[in-house]
Amino acid sequence: MRETHNESFLASVLGHDSPPAHLARIVIEEKLRTAILDGRLPAGTAMRQQELARLFGVSRMPVREALRQLEAQSLLRVETHKGAVVAPLIGDDAADAYALRILLESEALRLSIPLLDETDLRAAEQCIELLETETDFNEMGRLNRLFHMALYAKTPNKRLLDLVENGLNEEERFLRFNLSSMGLGKLSQDDHRELLQLARDRDIEAIVKSLAHHLNRGVEAISKYLEERKSAELASKTKGTRARKNSLARPAASEKSV
Ligand code: NI
Repeated sequence: MRETHNESFLASVLGHDSPPAHLARIVIEEKLRTAILDGRLPAGTAMRQQELARLFGVSRMPVREALRQLEAQSLLRVETHKGAVVAPLIGDDAADAYALRILLESEALRLSIPLLDETDLRAAEQCIELLETETDFNEMGRLNRLFHMALYAKTPNKRLLDLVENGLNEEERFLRFNLSSMGLGKLSQDDHRELLQLARDRDIEAIVKSLAHHLNRGVEAISKYLEERKSAELASKTKGTRARKNSLARPAASEKSV
């Protein structure tokens, strides 16, 4: 069977290796997730079950399951007529997403803080220490997520914890590409230290306030990013067809800032 253009692109990114049948879903999910997070599969890339099944030499079922997981993590989204595609790095509703995160994570903190033990607090502290010297943006995004998750670790409501983790995964993806341009490094570390101290003090009201402050910095950075993206799009539109073609072929300049 002839490969489509999309299929040969996927093959060039993902390779042709067939996973063992019993691991198919996990391997496929992990491969796609990594390629989306590190930008090798850009926003808008079509993820068709049939193409992926052929590429990995598996049935459609594990592919469908893997795609469903990635969709739940907001890495894919379903578009009319196109099916599942790689989701944009950050949607226009990002500020809403942060507002929701503040609600969810405040509740997770309230439930978790009284139950945290020394191991959880040490895990959070270790993330702060590692962030001090880390220069790789992928790793910094991951450590930020692990730090916050350590503070929520004892939340007894697993559904709440899943929602919280999805929000953090979404942020991690954005941070990987934009940490350098946002200049958040030092500020975030001060916030993180304060959060840890308040967790040790078991001061729930203060830590909830401090978290809102921390996440609002993210809202500001993302709003700035979205404004810049809008004006870049506007500028390329006024430059005529040629410029428009280029901007479609490549991600916006600010998305490649690392
Ligand atoms: Ni943080």
